[in-house]
Amino acid sequence: MKSVFITGCSRGLGKGITDIFLEQGYSVFGCSRTRTGNSFDNNLVHQTCDLSDLEQIPDTLRSLLSNVTQLDVVILSAGILGDIKLMQDTTVSELEQITNINVWSNKVILDFLLKSDIAIKQIILISSGASIFGNKGWSGYALSKATLNMLAKLYAHEFSDTHIAAIAPGLIDTGMMDYLCNKVDSEKFPALKRIKAAKGTPSMLSPQEAAQNVFEALVPLTDWKSGSFVDLRQIFSPDEYAELMKK
Ligand SMILES: NC(=O)c1ccc[n+]([C@@H]2O[C@H](COP(=O)([O-])OP(=O)(O)OC[C@H]3O[C@@H](n4cnc5c(N)ncnc54)[C@H](OP(=O)(O)O)[C@@H]3O)[C@@H](O)[C@H]2O)c1
Repeated sequence: MKSVFITGCSRGLGKGITDIFLEQGYSVFGCSRTRTGNSFDNNLVHQTCDLSDLEQIPDTLRSLLSNVTQLDVVILSAGILGDIKLMQDTTVSELEQITNINVWSNKVILDFLLKSDIAIKQIILISSGASIFGNKGWSGYALSKATLNMLAKLYAHEFSDTHIAAIAPGLIDTGMMDYLCNKVDSEKFPALKRIKAAKGTPSMLSPQEAAQNVFEALVPLTDWKSGSFVDLRQIFSPDEYAELMKK
């Protein structure tokens, strides 16, 4: 039976990805702080884990993956947005909090996997277009995702038999979007205008659609050099991607 390890499996994109892999008959190992019901629970092993507590991550993984010798895919999806605000209004402590979850927890997970005897074919780090856009107000989130892209590049040298990619999944209608569309002033942070305009259109995917894209991209992604950052719109909607890059 094929197997996958997924972080952030309780909600949003991570839950969509979990459901797809379960539907495809994979054995799924997942972690998040909370857990929501999945229809094929028999093939899901879940471990509660707060990724902001970096020191307990190895013990959690040791327990979750104790009998695992091979993982076809690892998808590190857990992440937080933080507040949209100016860099000058963002404290170092806030940046550390975001980076701990979006970057350093993934570093600890990658180190654990690298030193384990688990054979891994493919690792996907869920990044974001924000990692390259540098839009006003995306402060800690953008910095953390840019660092995540570099983490993928650097670890690609060390995971010799594993393909790694950091991917931007596109706009997805999750809790993050509720915050962006309802709680942040688009006059002050103009990049939100594109996001608000996308809500309810095909440019903003449901978590299930975005998860399907991630699943379908697994093979095409291996055409890129290990460690690459790939925006999935390059694969699934190249015209939209080209437009986005002009802005
Ligand atoms: N939504 C978008 O448009 C979009 C676009 C580009 C990239 N992304 C990326 O996609 C990924 C998923 O985002 P989403 O939109 O699906 O967000 P979401 O709905 O807020 O889900 C976030 C997931 O991360 C987990 N998580 C957050 N903090 C955690 C912690 N301290 N410990 C363990 N797990 C934690 C949550 O689980 P618990 O709360 O149960 O712990 C949840 O499963 C993120 O990396 C995000 O940056 C999203």
